[in-house]
Amino acid sequence: MNDLIARLVRSDIRALKAYHVPDSTGMIKLDAMENPHGWPEPVIGEWLAGLAGIALNRYPDPQGQQVQQTLRESMEIPPDMALLLGNGSDELIELLLLSIAKPGRKVLSVDPGFVMYRMIAGIAGLDYVGVPLRPDDFSIDLPALLEAIEREQPALIFLAYPNNPTGNRFDSDDVVRIIEAAPGLVVIDEAYSPFTDCSFLGLLGDWPNLLVLRTLSKMGLAALRLGYLVGPPAWIAEIDKVRLPYNINSLTQYSAAFALRHKPMLDEQARAIRAERQHLLKDLARLDALHPYPSEANFILFRVADGRADAIFHGLKERGILIKNLNGSHPLLQDCLRVTVGLPEENQAFLAALSALTS
Ligand SMILES: Cc1ncc(COP(=O)(O)O)c(C=O)c1O
Repeated sequence: MNDLIARLVRSDIRALKAYHVPDSTGMIKLDAMENPHGWPEPVIGEWLAGLAGIALNRYPDPQGQQVQQTLRESMEIPPDMALLLGNGSDELIELLLLSIAKPGRKVLSVDPGFVMYRMIAGIAGLDYVGVPLRPDDFSIDLPALLEAIEREQPALIFLAYPNNPTGNRFDSDDVVRIIEAAPGLVVIDEAYSPFTDCSFLGLLGDWPNLLVLRTLSKMGLAALRLGYLVGPPAWIAEIDKVRLPYNINSLTQYSAAFALRHKPMLDEQARAIRAERQHLLKDLARLDALHPYPSEANFILFRVADGRADAIFHGLKERGILIKNLNGSHPLLQDCLRVTVGLPEENQAFLAALSALTS
């Protein structure tokens, strides 16, 4: 069997490791940028009552028309722009890359950036080019990036705005320079839009090569797996051809439309997360031996002194707190850890354990 696998599976696929999600059973879960807030009982009751009406024997609406309409209304999608729904924004990253994939074509982003851009580009057979961010503040090194665009002529550029895993939002003028210099598509990935006041959504249409990618995951609906791509109808129509039929299941379509009708509740949760992020940032800055970076997302990146990132990560885990260890994932992230903003009591438990481990 191994011979057959070696003969049939591409060597670059065999060299990959499947995406690993650590077991978090029973832990305070601060590793995956989830919203920690639940829904009040009456809202859950109303949602459950609606679920009972879904015909599980029927295929879902292939376009998710109702959820598209609700998204348009609640997210202020420019009326002249089209929408494409994905099973998480991860799927939309895949559809974008599959729709332009050709041997020798390049995809460009910044490093450290969202890992899926590199991973899916490789799977689609595209070459990935990562341009390092500035080491001091993780801002874009614009001259280096413009030079890389000129040299590599990328078919597609991804920029996460704010960026994962660093948490900062790039300078909007830098982003505009990149859009204008790009020979191909530029996708602004606004996964963390609930936690910042800045967006390129309202600028769609100003450049023919600009698309905006969003997700409902970080605003509290990670379980539903619903992302959306917004852009000029001609682009969206092409990318839609790569999508498999019925990619958004009926339970997700119903639940997302339901949740978006309660958007004020989700907005209030995002406001609470933003306020808690500022408290957490202040408390982290007070601890000796570590340096937190500013964030416009629902997580904070911090660097620990004396090469102790692995020890602190494991020490937190032993105390029942799961965060993300980025040490070793990229040279610029040496000794870096990333914590998602949780409920106030979760953040307090994290801070207490962290201060015990660093003192
Ligand atoms: C920048 C960025 N884009 C996209 C995603 C994927 O989100 P989802 O597939 O849950 O929509 C993530 C998840 O962490 C992210 O950080």
